Amino acid sequence: MSQPKVLLSREQIAAKVAEIGSAITRDFQGESVILLGVLKGATVFLADLARQIQLDATFDFIAVSSYGNSREQSGEVRLVKDVDRPMEGKNIILVEDILDTGLTLTYLRELLLARKPKALKIAALLDKLSRRELPVHADYVGFVIPDEFVVGYGLDFAEHFRNLPDICIMESDAKSS
Ligand code: IMP
Ligand code: MG
Repeated sequence: MSQPKVLLSREQIAAKVAEIGSAITRDFQGESVILLGVLKGATVFLADLARQIQLDATFDFIAVSSYGNSREQSGEVRLVKDVDRPMEGKNIILVEDILDTGLTLTYLRELLLARKPKALKIAALLDKLSRRELPVHADYVGFVIPDEFVVGYGLDFAEHFRNLPDICIMESDAKSS
C-alpha cells in the first residue's frame, strides 16, 4: 500500500483542538456540558478535545449509519445507537469528525433539538464546505478542507486507518485495492 499523503499533521491538529477547547470553555463558563460523540469517527477528536475543555463535562455517544461502506452517501441516515442519558435541559456539544454533505448532522440536529436541550452546539474537526447539500453549519470548525477523501485521526476508509495520528489524503490506488 502506498504511503498516505499528510494533509494535516498531528501538531497542526493538536493546536487547533486546543483552540476549540478554549472557545468551548469560554462559551460555557460556569456550566456543565455533555460531549456527544458520533461513533466511530469522532472518538479520537473527542478524547483530545475533552482534555482541552476546563468545564464539568460528561461523555455520551450516538451512532448513525448511512448504509454501507461506500464513500458516497446513500441519502438516508439511520440511527444505530441512541444516547444513554436524557438530553433535556442540558448543554450538548455534538462532536463530529467531518461535515461533508451535511446529511448526518442535519438528521442528528433535528433528532436532538426535539429533546429540548438547553443548548446544542456542533463541533466538527473538518469541514468539506464545497460538498454541502444541506444548509448546516458547525459552531466550532477545525479546518475547512478540499474535496479529498481523508483518513486518520478517527476517520476511516472501510474501517481502516482510524489510528493514523495525522489526517491523510486517501490515495486512489489504495482505495481501489
Ligand atoms: P455527511 O453526512 O455527508 O455530512 O457526512 C458525514 C460523514 O461522512 C462523516 O461522519 C464521515 O463518516 C463520512 N465522511 C465524509 N467524508 C469523509 C472522508 O473524507 N473520510 C472519511 N469519512 C468521511
Ligand atoms: Mg462519521
